[in-house]
Amino acid sequence: MYTFGFISLNPKIENNYFTEVAKRSPHYDIECYRFSPTNINPVTHLVTGEKFYPDHQEWRSHEFPIPDILYDRCFYADHALAKNALAIMKWLKNRRDLLFIGHGLPNKWNLYQTLANSNLSPYVVKTIPVKDAIQTLSFLENEKKIILKPVSGSGGMGIACLEKENETISVIVEKQQQILRSSFPSITIAQKWIEKIRTKKEYLAQPFLQLVDQAKRPFDIRILLQKDGNGQWVERGRGIRTGQTNGVLSNLSAGADTEPFHNWLNSIDPKKIDFLKKEIEELTTQLPKIIEQTYPPLFEIGIDIGVAQDLSLWILDVNSKPGRKVVLETVPLAQESLYTAPLEYGRMLALQHEQGRKSYEKTFSNRNQ
Ligand SMILES: Nc1ncnc2c1ncn2[C@@H]1O[C@H](COP(=O)(O)OP(=O)(O)O)[C@@H](O)[C@H]1O
Ligand SMILES: [Mg+2]
Repeated sequence: MYTFGFISLNPKIENNYFTEVAKRSPHYDIECYRFSPTNINPVTHLVTGEKFYPDHQEWRSHEFPIPDILYDRCFYADHALAKNALAIMKWLKNRRDLLFIGHGLPNKWNLYQTLANSNLSPYVVKTIPVKDAIQTLSFLENEKKIILKPVSGSGGMGIACLEKENETISVIVEKQQQILRSSFPSITIAQKWIEKIRTKKEYLAQPFLQLVDQAKRPFDIRILLQKDGNGQWVERGRGIRTGQTNGVLSNLSAGADTEPFHNWLNSIDPKKIDFLKKEIEELTTQLPKIIEQTYPPLFEIGIDIGVAQDLSLWILDVNSKPGRKVVLETVPLAQESLYTAPLEYGRMLALQHEQGRKSYEKTFSNRNQ
């Protein structure tokens, strides 16, 4: 019997997911727990959280040792609690006796450098770190329209576009499903605005690509890859996310809609379909390999792929804590595998870990005989 722990700052956010996984856990001889990193007693290392009771199909308060297998589903905002939680997670991940099913990814700038130096570089959007206003405005001068993204952002939060038409610089942001566009009265004010956002967060800048459909709605392909019970990467599903006409974002949290991948595929030139599918296949096989050559192992990734009007593909973002909504909504048959995958992969890792430890102990005791 193994114990499995979902770690999250607010279990309510993914209550349905955690519960669906937990309902399937007895089949794998696994007990499920969920807790926040801030609820680990620093002295006893006992956790105050919840245990899933399969007989009653519900979570109940419980105190327990740190589970054998850990699944990090923490999403950090900027408040103090998150900073504290982040520090605790760092400590947990550095403990060699604990087993995480995935180790997370570094920020977008770090990831960009890795991908830009790999054989997937043709799919990577030119990216610069935002250092100061002069450099950013000169990038804008060359590109005419650029996107600024927080280096450690997600869900489209904090993203803004800058556009230069004639001598006018405008900023476009999407907030609560509204597209807000305003022009800076002067270059000095634009400079001040860049300096101001730059002091709050680190940003990167990219050319703003025309990744839109015929109705001028931004869209992208979201692909969810996970490891199976043998530790092999498999695709769980892919779907299309579509934002608003003349908008910037295709994030679901920014209000985008989902659509099955094949619907979109049927809308493009049939002669180009095979080539496109092969290219996507190449991306989804290469990407996890490149990432795991550089960073610690992962259990899952969500890849955002932008499609330009000439059907060229662009890797926009790689998420190590992906959502499941696109796949659940567009590939209903994938549902069961989504709920069993963390248990199957987690159990495989735990068995491997145990065997590794046993063989280490055996070698060690033989050596000492
Ligand atoms: N270079 C770009 N050009 C045009 N649109 C982009 C570009 N980069 C991102 N986007 C749009 O913004 C969305 C969010 O960007 P992304 O890099 O995925 O950040 P986040 O981590 O906030 O999701 C993308 O899904 C896409 O719709
Ligand atoms: Mg994204």
